[in-house]
This record gives sequence, C-alpha cells and structure tokens, in this order.
Amino acid sequence: MSETSPKASAVESREPLSPAFDRRQRIALVIIVVAAIIAGLLAARYNPLLTHAASREGSEIDALFGHVFGVAVAILVIVEGSLIFVIVRFGIVARSEARGVPIRDYLPLEILWTAIPFMIVTWLAVRSYQVMVSIGTVSPQAYVVEVRARQFAWEFDYPGTGVSSNELHIPLGRQILFRMHSADVIHSFWVPDFRIKRDVMPDRITEMEFTATQLGTFPLLCSRLCGVGHAFMRSNVVVQTSDDFQAWLTQQAKAQSSTTDPAAYGRSLFAKYGCSGCHTLSDAGATGQVGPNLNGIGVRAAERVPGQSAGEYIRTSIINPNAYIVPGYPANVMPQDFQQRMSSQELDGLVNYLLMQQEP
Ligand code: CUA
Repeated sequence: MSETSPKASAVESREPLSPAFDRRQRIALVIIVVAAIIAGLLAARYNPLLTHAASREGSEIDALFGHVFGVAVAILVIVEGSLIFVIVRFGIVARSEARGVPIRDYLPLEILWTAIPFMIVTWLAVRSYQVMVSIGTVSPQAYVVEVRARQFAWEFDYPGTGVSSNELHIPLGRQILFRMHSADVIHSFWVPDFRIKRDVMPDRITEMEFTATQLGTFPLLCSRLCGVGHAFMRSNVVVQTSDDFQAWLTQQAKAQSSTTDPAAYGRSLFAKYGCSGCHTLSDAGATGQVGPNLNGIGVRAAERVPGQSAGEYIRTSIINPNAYIVPGYPANVMPQDFQQRMSSQELDGLVNYLLMQQEP
C-alpha cells in the first residue's frame, strides 16, 4: 500500500508541532516573545497615555495602570506577532488545494495558555488590592475639608476657621480628608491630575482623601451630568506650601467676617454661595454663563420693575429667583433657599455688593 490510510492521517495529527516548526521558525517565535517582553516593559515604564500624577495616591494608581498597560502591550505583540507568523508560515499558497494538518488538541500548549493568564490576573488582583488599601487609608493627622456641591457650584468649608471658598486651597504634602455632601442632585468630585473621583450624594456623606505632591493650580470638575449648568461646574484646586495656605486662610477669615470692607465681604459671599458658578461678574472674577451677566447690575436693577428700587429688585431676585426671569434664561435653575441659608447680615452684604456693580 503506497497511499496513506485515513487512520494514519489521524495519528499524524496528534503530533503537529514537530513537522510544522523548523529551526528558523522556532527562532521567529523566540523573537516574538522577546519583542513582547521588551515592548511590555517599555510601555509600563514610559506610559505615554498619562500625564504626571500630582498626588501620592495618583502615583500609585499610575504605577498599577502602567503594569496593566505593559501586560496588555506584551499580549498584543504576542497575539499579533503570532498571527502574522502563522499567516506567513501556514497561509494557503496560491493555486494550492492544501488545507494543512488538522490539529485537535495539544495539552502542553493548553496548560501554558491557561496558567499564564491565571498568574497575570492573580498578580493584578493582589496589586490592585494593595493599592486600594494604601490609597484608602486615612491618617489621623489628615486635614479635614467639607465639600458642598450644588447646581452648579462647589463650596469648600474649612472647619474651625469660619472660612468658605469656592476655590479649593490645600497645603502641599499633607493628607486631606474630604467630607462631601450634595444640596440637591448627585454630583461627582473629580481632579484628573490627582486621579481621584468620587460621587457627592444628597442623602449621605461620602469621603475621599488625597495628598498633593506638586505645587500649582489644577482643574476640578463635576463628572456627573447634573443639569443645565453641569459643564460650568468647574473650579480649581490650588496647592500651596503650608505657610502660604495658612496665610490664605487668615486673609479669607478676615475678608469673610469683616464688614469694614463691603466690597471684599461681598466678593467673599459671592464666592461662598456659589453665585460665580452661574453668573459672570468681572469684579469677582466670575465667568458663569448659566444665569444673567451681573456686570452693571447696580444700574440696570433700578429700571427692571416700575416702582421698585434697585436694592429691592436684587434682594427679591436672590431670595425668590423665579419672581422675575430675565428673558432668554430658564426658570427653576437658581437655588430657592438662599433666605434660609444666608444670615440677614450676609443677604444685606450681598445686595450692597451687587448695588456697587455700576460698570457694564
Ligand atoms: Cu454637578 Cu455635574
């Protein structure tokens, strides 16, 4: 019998690797694996997808992300490299009817491609858990800042100082513990440069902590769609040295308690109550677009409602925002609880401040 019987072919298919791979092709496979390891290590070390993290927690998260990214790049090189190799080595030759040898199973390979992913996934789970524990540990020396989110502004209280601000100032190198609460809907506190994001809820207090490791100003965003002004619900985190931070607190405490400088007092109220989140007012450095522009409101307010003084119009517009809606702006956007939240001294201070805005 010169012809190969069907039985003989089946036996042949049990040992597919030895006839398929000669010495040159084994070298090609080794090159693919070495290239994958080098590419993975480079990707993990010089991750091009991320900027430099500006917090201790962010650096740990980036290191973990680098490991995941490195493994992913190595797998990509192995899969794509093997694919190209197999196409070149086993691709159907033009005008050939050959189908190649059918391979049914190959136990060593199956053990290998089960064991390696298992080890990778286990290692990543352990690393993730370590990072989670590390960044979630609150030091007893942490500095507490209270965060209040509302449509569409951030408000930060520094307990024990009487200072509130809608720009977040924090000292460098000290862990900050944020206790967060929302006055209305769900918002989300996000500082991309710190790699930290957490929801701020109306029915509970959520906590979050981080330690800034770089001086400077970083954008702070709301990352949950919370209404028409969501895109404007932005602020800044200003990281200062401990001395500069204390000086800022002292200066704010003075401006926010004193009535000797009505403009500074009014400006601090404008910030404290989040007015700058929605309105433009040059004197306060505010550029919000959700509500009417308040430049020159001190002049315009007198002409709005016949028989009503500018002061009365402004006061009514603060405590009962739906009383007069400026054409082109939506109703029910401005909070309607300022009368409950502001002391009468604060309300007077804010009305006086807005009356001072004479420049259009
Ligand atoms: Cu608050 Cu989006």
